[in-house]
Amino acid sequence: MVPSLWKVMAGFLVWNGALWLVVGGLLAPLLPGGGRTVLALMLLLVLPIAVILRGMGGRAYPSAFARTWIFRPFWYAQLALLVLAAAGLAGLLLGLPFGAAAQVGRGALGVVGGVLLAAGTWGYAGTRRLVVRPLDVRFAGLPRGLEGMRIVQLSDLHVGPHTSRRHLARIAEAVRSAEPDLIVLTGDQVDDYARDVEPLGRAFGGLAAPLGVVAVAGNHDVYAGWEPVRRGMERLGWRVLVNEAIPLERDGAPFWLAGTGDPAGGRPGDSPVAPDLQRTMAAVPGDAFSIVLAHNPALWPGLVRLGADLTLSGHTHHGQLSVPRLRWSVASVFLEHAMGAYREGRSVLYVNPGTNFWGIPFRIGALPEVTVVTLHGSPVVHSREDAPAVAQASGSSGDR
Ligand SMILES: [Fe+2]
Repeated sequence: MVPSLWKVMAGFLVWNGALWLVVGGLLAPLLPGGGRTVLALMLLLVLPIAVILRGMGGRAYPSAFARTWIFRPFWYAQLALLVLAAAGLAGLLLGLPFGAAAQVGRGALGVVGGVLLAAGTWGYAGTRRLVVRPLDVRFAGLPRGLEGMRIVQLSDLHVGPHTSRRHLARIAEAVRSAEPDLIVLTGDQVDDYARDVEPLGRAFGGLAAPLGVVAVAGNHDVYAGWEPVRRGMERLGWRVLVNEAIPLERDGAPFWLAGTGDPAGGRPGDSPVAPDLQRTMAAVPGDAFSIVLAHNPALWPGLVRLGADLTLSGHTHHGQLSVPRLRWSVASVFLEHAMGAYREGRSVLYVNPGTNFWGIPFRIGALPEVTVVTLHGSPVVHSREDAPAVAQASGSSGDR
């Protein structure tokens, strides 16, 4: 293990110990074996960090078993521990003035534990669903040959050997059923390890479209090791775009398809996969219609300034917890462009919620999605000035 990983481990153990002090302290009198049982539980639940950090050091490729039965319970436990410790602490403080700190603390643990269990079950069920969302995007002056062009967007697949094959098969089937002109994958194709391109290829290697299958880098593809991930995707016959644009044509109408690098690669010039928006758009003529794939929607304002027409992004997962009707998600708290469609002047951004999940299998409100984008020319005069006529989800989305 490299020295920095030892530091991470030490910090984690201190943090974890503090959380266990609250939760374990409250639970110990109720458990057979008391403090010793709490200590054993704590050790059992922190041990996976060693396996995880070993993998991050690049020396191991965790199996489906390890990811499902070691990593996943670990992340569940860490998240639950944090919430339970906060609830327990609040209960302790609330009960203190009444001389009932421990009782109120335990009560809070019980209530919050029940809520966590219910939410966890609901969220897990969400990851097993698949929404096929039709998205009509309108552009004034769209070249006639692009009218009705269909682009299927997959994003944040995070495929690993542990990913449900049934879910992957349903995604592939949804893509085929949409009969797209173009298939795009907007980053985070793999789940943190370069060899994850193998299950990715088994699931999606057979996909094809008249204008091709095109992918860009997401932060997790960079963490996994960008060069081997890129080569793996190219071996599938996919076109991988990093800070470049290619000219394409449909029904005699030329347009440009561009792909950026990802901020996980650093600042422009830091690494071959760092985003360089100037370079990405350099070849695109000012009057040409352009579609840009950018994993991280934070790149969109820069792309707007460079004349991008349609930008397709992912990355945010809509926080894997959202209330679409209120256009709110956990990601909205931190990010300006967190979910759904945005328009600025002529430029449109769509932020896909991700077609699978990362980490804990949990999705409420932000269900896994295959987006079927259809391009339309816009009437010159809109019937309503404020109508969101440029980008809108059309009809009802199919939930499979
Ligand atoms: Fe992701």
